[in-house]
Amino acid sequence: MTVVVEAKNLRQVYKIRRGMFREPAQLQAVGGVSFSIEAGKTLAVVGESGCGKSTLARMVALIEKPTEGSLVLDGTDAVQTPAADRRRLRQAVQLVFQNPYGSLNPRKKISAVLEDPLAINTDLAAPERAERARAMLAQVGLRPEYAARYPHMFSGGQRQRIAIARALMLNPKLLVADEPVSALDVSIQAQVLNLLADLQAQFQLAFLFISHDLAVVRHIAHDVLVMYLGHVMEQGPKDKLFARPLHPYTNALLASTPGVGARSVQRIVLKGELPSPLNPPSGCVFSSRCPYALAQCKAERPLPRPVDGRLVACHFAEQFLESGFPASPAVDNASLPG
Ligand SMILES: Nc1ncnc2c1ncn2[C@@H]1O[C@H](COP(=O)(O)OP(=O)(O)OP(=O)(O)O)[C@@H](O)[C@H]1O
Ligand SMILES: [Mg+2]
Repeated sequence: MTVVVEAKNLRQVYKIRRGMFREPAQLQAVGGVSFSIEAGKTLAVVGESGCGKSTLARMVALIEKPTEGSLVLDGTDAVQTPAADRRRLRQAVQLVFQNPYGSLNPRKKISAVLEDPLAINTDLAAPERAERARAMLAQVGLRPEYAARYPHMFSGGQRQRIAIARALMLNPKLLVADEPVSALDVSIQAQVLNLLADLQAQFQLAFLFISHDLAVVRHIAHDVLVMYLGHVMEQGPKDKLFARPLHPYTNALLASTPGVGARSVQRIVLKGELPSPLNPPSGCVFSSRCPYALAQCKAERPLPRPVDGRLVACHFAEQFLESGFPASPAVDNASLPG
């Protein structure tokens, strides 16, 4: 199998200005994430708002340089590579955004939207560019004559098809899709997801698929990466995580999505509110909301380690594997320091 993208320990730290006389604060949006995606496979990234999904997407799509870590894309080191080689790499990875209204220029005909990438990056003559644009429209389930129309003449689902067509014009190896169906009606979502799956099979595309919706993820992912406050909580094959989550946070996400939870999912209630990423909890970043957190969790941050065919960043993953998630916390949390 061909590995299309391999990320190691990707980190993004933003400096937040706090006025003239104070040092800028450091906000770690992504704190060391590693994964690889093979051709024809989908890695879904899930987690609550602000956990760093889009930041990860921007680093992988070469829009933002990581503060730290390495990214090998299509066999080339994407962080260290000289500017001259970046152009080829930029073609290998394309982005599809959540909002198909904002991502298409309203003054450009669809023909121009689709042909411009070819005009800029290839030597193809105009008639051939037009032919390829029409062929791509057919690929995404739209009529070739739509090329003469403007974006406002299309529905949301059709616009997202056009955005997907545009992303595919330069034969990318990797598609980074940041909540690509979240803005669409549920009935349209399934159609666009099916289209993505068809295109993936046909072109052996690797997908990095960002979504907060586990029902969507279950439909499309091969592997899943669960993030919380910039850190990986659990990561591995979708079937493993959905059938038997081993991190309390994965369990909580599954429990809060109707219809996707397996029998082994325990209805646990998260404590408190999502902490600010400017002031994350010590030790395990999930400890302040975890019903099973003990003193060790506040003291030591667990790193993702292999447990039962996936990676889990929890001190007690083996115990949860053996005896499941207890219905009520075994230990009084009030005894926790801090
Ligand atoms: N350019 C930036 N400068 C400073 N902070 C940023 C920047 N971009 C993102 N952040 C912060 O980084 C954290 C992660 O943001 P990000 O947009 O990656 O989250 P997300 O998981 O995509 O959330 P959502 O589900 O709401 O889209 C947030 O706390 C956010 O405020
Ligand atoms: Mg986002």
